[in-house]
Amino acid sequence: MDTLTALHQRFSANHFDTSKPVSPELLDQLIDAARQAPSSFNQQHARYFAVQDLSARQTLRTIAYNQAKVEEAPLVIVVLGDLHAHTHFADIAHADQKAGIYDEGLANYFIQAVQNGYADPARAHDEAIRSGALAAMNIMNAATALGLVTGPMIGFDQAKFKETFHIAERYLPVIMLTVGYNAPGNWPKKTRLSIQSLLVRDGRPQKPHAFSTN
Ligand SMILES: Cc1cc2nc3c(=O)[nH]c(=O)nc-3n(C[C@H](O)[C@H](O)[C@H](O)COP(=O)(O)O)c2cc1C
Repeated sequence: MDTLTALHQRFSANHFDTSKPVSPELLDQLIDAARQAPSSFNQQHARYFAVQDLSARQTLRTIAYNQAKVEEAPLVIVVLGDLHAHTHFADIAHADQKAGIYDEGLANYFIQAVQNGYADPARAHDEAIRSGALAAMNIMNAATALGLVTGPMIGFDQAKFKETFHIAERYLPVIMLTVGYNAPGNWPKKTRLSIQSLLVRDGRPQKPHAFSTN
């Protein structure tokens, strides 16, 4: 399936076929797609915590305010964002350097820029969310292309999730994705705002436009 078809076919699923597990090969394909997402300086903040065991999903369901799809979907992936990615960035810069993508001077410049730029926890937080969101979208689009359906969710108690599943402080839950095979009863994809209402087509300095007023 080509990318545009997957983008248009994806919808947010509430119901999953409880009899069809997602194979380990498909899970790997989803995470392989996720890790292709870009991130600031290639910091790669996103991590993936998969829950498949039924009783673990039942526990997760209680943490997700009893949303049934968390138990019914055979696979739940919680995308995490690393709030400390900047402090570990040197390894990535050196890998990119070793791969011949840039030289040592630029690697050292990037390391300094990242360590200084993201020392502000608010910036590190925003970047973790941004990277995690991009990676999550890759998972959902790849899943569609692979014949799966997905449901993005933020309706869960993030602190309780971290505590219950022993997630270290540095990892921020970005979004939960229920993943599996389609089942009857799902709504079709919802309506979307018009392109006209979403797009400033030709932004210019000092020129008022649709987003200049509240
Ligand atoms: C960040 C985010 C959080 C969401 N949280 C939930 C949730 O907790 N429970 C739920 O049933 N749907 C949740 N959704 C699904 C949205 O309701 C759904 O994506 C939206 O209605 C559009 O549906 P569509 O993609 O099928 O058109 C969430 C979606 C996003 C992107």
